[in-house]
Amino acid sequence: METTENTLREQIANLQEQLHRQEKMASLGMLSAGIAHEIQNPLNFVINFSKMSAKLTDDLVQLIDDCAEQLDQDDRADLEDIAADLKENMEKIQEHGERAISIIRGILLHSRGKAGEKLPTDVGKLVHEYVWLSYHAMRAGDKTFNISIHEDIQEGMPLLMVVPQDLSRAVLNVMNNACYTVKERAAKEGAEYTPTISIKVALEGGTHLHITITDNGMGMSQEIQQKIFENFFTTKPIGQGTGLGMSITRDIVTRQHQGQLLMASEPNVGTTFTFIIPVKTVK
Ligand SMILES: Nc1ncnc2c1ncn2[C@@H]1O[C@H](COP(=O)(O)OP(=O)(O)O)[C@@H](O)[C@H]1O
Ligand SMILES: [Mg+2]
Repeated sequence: METTENTLREQIANLQEQLHRQEKMASLGMLSAGIAHEIQNPLNFVINFSKMSAKLTDDLVQLIDDCAEQLDQDDRADLEDIAADLKENMEKIQEHGERAISIIRGILLHSRGKAGEKLPTDVGKLVHEYVWLSYHAMRAGDKTFNISIHEDIQEGMPLLMVVPQDLSRAVLNVMNNACYTVKERAAKEGAEYTPTISIKVALEGGTHLHITITDNGMGMSQEIQQKIFENFFTTKPIGQGTGLGMSITRDIVTRQHQGQLLMASEPNVGTTFTFIIPVKTVK
C-alpha cells in the first residue's frame, strides 16, 4: 500500500515537472513568435525608408551635377562626397536590416515547430487519464480539497485519428482551468457548495468526436469570455497563470484538428467547453 502510494506520488511529481517544462517551452515559443512578428513590421519600415533615401540621394547627386555652374569647385566636391557617403550608409542600413529580417523569419519558422502526427488513439482513455492527472496535480498542492468528478465516456469507441500529445494538452488546459475555478468558488462559498466537474466523451454519427467539460465554478462575464482566447490574457495572480492555455487549446482544436471549440458560461453558475472534432476511425 505504502509503496503504491509512493510510486503514484513519484509519477505525479514527474508528470507535473514534465507539464511545467512543456508549458514553459510553449510560452517561450509563442513569446518569440509574437516578438518576431511584431519586429517584422518596423523593420520593413526601416528597410523601405532607407531604400527611398538611397533613391533621394541619387536625385541629390543629379541636382549637384545640374547646378555645377553655380557652385564653387571645393563646395561641389564636398557635396558630392557627402552624397556618396549618405548613399553608402543607406545601403548598409538596408543590408543589415535585411539580415535582421532573415533572422526573424528563421525564428518564426522554428517556433511554429513540427506538425504533430495523427495517430490511432483511444480517446476515451486519453481523456480519462488527463482529467485525473489534472485533478491529482491540483490535489498535490492541497490535500484537503476535493472535487466531485463525473465521467460519461462512451464505451467501445473505435480508435480515432488525432494528435494525441496535443489533444491531451487541450483537455489538460481546460481541466486545469476548471479545477482552478471550482477551487476559487469553494474558497468563497464554503461548505454549502459542492465543487463538480463533468466530462463527456462520445463519437457522434460515427464521424464527430465530442468532448465536453463542464464545471460549476465562477463562470465568466461577457467581457472576459471575449478575451479568453487571446494570447497572455489571464485573470490569475502573477505566477499562477500564463494566459496561454485557452489560445493554445483553440489552436489545437480548430487549426490542428479542423474542429470547433464551443463555450457557454454564466457568472456564478459555471462554464462548459465542447470540442467538436471531425475524425477518421480506425477499423
Ligand atoms: N472554466 C473557467 N471558468 C472561469 N474562468 C475561466 C475558465 N477557463 C478560463 N477562464 C478565464 O480565462 C482566462 C484565460 O485562461 P487560460 O488561457 O487558460 O490562461 P490562465 O489559466 O493561465 O489564466 C483565465 O485567467 C480565466 O479568467
Ligand atoms: Mg489555464
